[in-house]
Formats: sequence, structure tokens, C-alpha cells
Amino acid sequence: MYRGWCQAAYEHELDARLVPVAVGPTPLVLARTPQGVRAFDAACPHRGAHLGYGGRLDGDAIVCPFHGKRIGLGAGAGRYRVREHPVLGYGGMVFVQPGAGPDNGFGAFLDDLAASHLFVPGFSRSVAVRADLVVENAFDATHFRPVHGIGNEPLFTILPGEPALPGEPTQTGAFTVTGTFVLPTSPWQRASAGTRSVSVPFVARAFSPYVVVSRLGGDHPYVTITAATPRPEGGCVIRFSLAIPTATHAAMPAERREGLYRYLMEHSLAGIEQDVPIWEHLVEPSAPGYDDADGVVVAFREFRESFRESCSPPARRMEG
Ligand code: FES
Ligand SMILES: [Fe+2]
Repeated sequence: MYRGWCQAAYEHELDARLVPVAVGPTPLVLARTPQGVRAFDAACPHRGAHLGYGGRLDGDAIVCPFHGKRIGLGAGAGRYRVREHPVLGYGGMVFVQPGAGPDNGFGAFLDDLAASHLFVPGFSRSVAVRADLVVENAFDATHFRPVHGIGNEPLFTILPGEPALPGEPTQTGAFTVTGTFVLPTSPWQRASAGTRSVSVPFVARAFSPYVVVSRLGGDHPYVTITAATPRPEGGCVIRFSLAIPTATHAAMPAERREGLYRYLMEHSLAGIEQDVPIWEHLVEPSAPGYDDADGVVVAFREFRESFRESCSPPARRMEG
């Protein structure tokens, strides 16, 4: 397990005031409060009941379903309390940073993005592969042609943390690469007749081993947010959402944009389905045979290791 931001849920999945979620082996409970969504350790510090299953939110406490104790939320006085974790809620996505850890400017980046983009929450797809390998995929330049059939082998350049393109939101500390894809024309790009492919500049930023935000530029830019969250039983849940420039959104009739956003979602899911057979049958070598073209993947793996921390379940009070 690594620390760092991950997407715990979509907001539309929070159908109760308390909702159980998990990030790898760490059980959490999300609470809808007047201050917004908050995240807490789920295990009752009395004897371990999961507060997300039958607990009741009551003011600044959760009443435990097992023995009825009031469990305080976050820091404060009192014997029984659960730890609170940082949460970011944007455009229907709920990000949590269990145990805090490196932020890498994710909140500031999303603030900037929200000022000029509209978020479109997308789909979820469970996959039997480690979450960090899904995020790493965005930085694996040499897989795009054989797996996804793009027209070139992009050369990625790692950026040392400054804005990636003129007009791009600023950020700090994310692992960022730029490159160019040669892609078949699509309904999104409204290519002129006779044009078969377009060159699209590409920027990908990982804010943690579990979240990558990519921007496809050119004349019709859009942003994708891919989050891979480890499941307790292994593998991960991929959640994929879009951020569309507000001006582009406003300029399109509602019917057209709904169709286009659906197209982008379906197209992106189809791309993930192309990766799945590789991911789910991967036999990871203990000593990979990297070549020169793997430099960006190796750099991503170094970035990933800066998040390493054994993420054990919350300590429980043992008595007697
Ligand atoms: S386990 Fe929660 S009150 Fe006992
Ligand atoms: Fe891929």
C-alpha cells in the first residue's frame, strides 16, 4: 500500500449519511455532514464494530451499532474517537487521503481546474490488477501503439513541476510528463473532411500512485481524471471522469454535448478494456528488463516509492 490521494467514491454513491468504503485493507466511513463529506477510520475503538454498517451520525459523533457508545469524530477530548482523514470533493468525486501524506498540490490543482472546467463524473470498473499499475499505464509510452493502436510511439518528457502548457493550471510536486499522440479523428475533434488523424499534445500528472489527471490538448482539449483505488480483496476499482472546458460546454447544445461526453466515456472504457487482458495476466518480474524507452516508467516508480508506507488497519484498543 502507498499513501496519497485516492478516490474513495462518487458522490452519487453516498446514498446514506454514513457509507462504508475501503482503501486497500483500510476500512473507512464517509459521513455526509453539514460541513460536507468527511472521512474517518471505520473501526470502533471500543471493540471494532464497523461504524459504516449500522452506525448513526448524531451531531459530532457516530453512535456505534454494537454497544451504543458515542464515538467522537476526529481530534478532541474523550476516550473513544476515530481518526479523521483529509477529503477533497469536486464535481461528484470524493477523494480521500488516508493517513494524510504528500499532497503534491492536488487540492490547488483541482481548484484551478474547477475555475475553468466542468467535471463530468464517469464510470467504475473493477480490475484484478494493482492500482498503481493502472496509473503507471498513463506514463508507459511504448504501450500506446501495440495496445491502443495509436499512430505513433510518443516520446514523453518529464517536467520538473512547472505549468505544462501556456494557460495550464499551475501545480507543484506532481509527477508530470508531456508528449504528443497521433490519434484517429473522432467525433470530439470534429476533424475536417479527409483528415484521418490528428496530433494531440498530451500532459499527464500523477498526484499519487492512485490518481492521474491527463489533458489532451489541441483544438478541442479535455481533461481525464483516472483514479485506481485498491480493493480490500486485491485488485482495484478504476473510476474515470472528465473535465470539459466550461466555454466548450457552454457552446454546445445540451443534446450534442451529452452525446459527446457519452462518446468520450465509452471510448475511454474501451481503451481500459484493451489494457485489461495485459494487466490481469501480468507476471511481474522481480528484476524487470528495462530498456532506454522505459525511463519514464522507472521515474514514475521512483515517484511511487515516495508514498510507500505500510498502511495497517487502525490500532484497536485491547483490554484485559
Ligand atoms: S464496538 Fe463500538 S461500542 Fe462496542
Ligand atoms: Fe493503456
